[in-house]
Amino acid sequence: MNIRSVISERERNLPGAMIGRLLKIAEESRDVISLGPGEPDFCAPAYVVDAMRSAVAACETHYSPTDGRRELKEAIVKKLKRENKIDARPENVIVTAGSTEAIMLSLMCLVDPGEEVLVPDPGFLGYIPTIELLNGFAISIPLKQDNGFQINGDAIREQIKNPNKLRAIIINTPGNPTGTVLKKRTLEEIADVAIEYNVPILADEAYEHFIYDRARHVSIGSLNGMEDYVVTFHSFSKTFAMPGFRVGYAVGPKPLIDAMSKVHIYTSLCAPTPSQIAAAVALNDTKNAKKSIGEMVGEYARRRKLILKRLSQIKGFHVDNPEGAFYALPSFFFKKKLTSVDLVEWMIKEARVAAVPGTEFGRCGEGYVRFSYATAYDKIETAMDRLEQKMKKLN
Ligand SMILES: Cc1ncc(COP(=O)(O)O)c(C=O)c1O
Repeated sequence: MNIRSVISERERNLPGAMIGRLLKIAEESRDVISLGPGEPDFCAPAYVVDAMRSAVAACETHYSPTDGRRELKEAIVKKLKRENKIDARPENVIVTAGSTEAIMLSLMCLVDPGEEVLVPDPGFLGYIPTIELLNGFAISIPLKQDNGFQINGDAIREQIKNPNKLRAIIINTPGNPTGTVLKKRTLEEIADVAIEYNVPILADEAYEHFIYDRARHVSIGSLNGMEDYVVTFHSFSKTFAMPGFRVGYAVGPKPLIDAMSKVHIYTSLCAPTPSQIAAAVALNDTKNAKKSIGEMVGEYARRRKLILKRLSQIKGFHVDNPEGAFYALPSFFFKKKLTSVDLVEWMIKEARVAAVPGTEFGRCGEGYVRFSYATAYDKIETAMDRLEQKMKKLN
């Protein structure tokens, strides 16, 4: 049979991610420097790797409870109090295969077909397709470079045309791809919107530790009265450079966490058990955690300084001062008219440098290109030399 003819409309309507195609080209061409990936280039810290190894050797290779192993949930509760000022109990936490799965589960439990979710645009490329897979509608909250890609309460209200259909508002701080850290004042405004419209906030904080200069990470879930409104997502992937372990978690109101645990049985059943054991060690050994996170953030800060300086010297790029994550998202304007996809294709072909077109992150990403600095310092330096030299042709 022709299997293509029976593939679901749901899958057929899903946009193919351009990022995959571009990163494949970059990988296959050895001389291309890729500033595309959104994952740390560091290995997981040795103490975490040791914990993983011991767990597997001790035959901890079985399923875990669907909401996560008890000792990890207890470690998460302590961490939430210590680092995020969020008061939670183990019943408020679900451990998942990366925060990607937690985001998916929360949307599966909140959104029925035809219902709406507000998403930052440009925003993490998982949000819109996940909502659309559930036959929901993603409504963009347009983010603009001229105010540092900050959201505000009024910009959110403006997009709420159908309050009866609104099921969630997604926020992401520090933001991917913008690097923007939402200020406490902004989070308070968003909290007011949540109360006014009685709508949950899904707060994605995957980059919570990647903060530079004088910025400060604030969890909206820590604000007064927000415990019934906010689901917060955290990840081990970026903080501990362990994306392949597949561990993340969500903390939120118990009835929603229970619903997510019920659905979890049918998605992956549980997060990988040895990875959960390693994740608990990652959090509980606070001395080693502080040291390894500190070293990684120090190195990202060095690369950030370099990439922002060099991008700002390339005629045609305009870059601000993103205070978080590990991305720079310059807008571009050249004499030669280009879409963001054209520009990325051109950069790969002419300068042998790969990045991600802004449109991968939503319609409002047109006119931007995302550079990741989760790549070695000297590679970033060479990539910037190449761009500086070649981009002259576009002006
Ligand atoms: C903003 C944001 N949220 C969530 C994720 C998912 O991370 P993971 O599923 O590895 O926890 C990513 C990954 O790049 C991300 O950038």
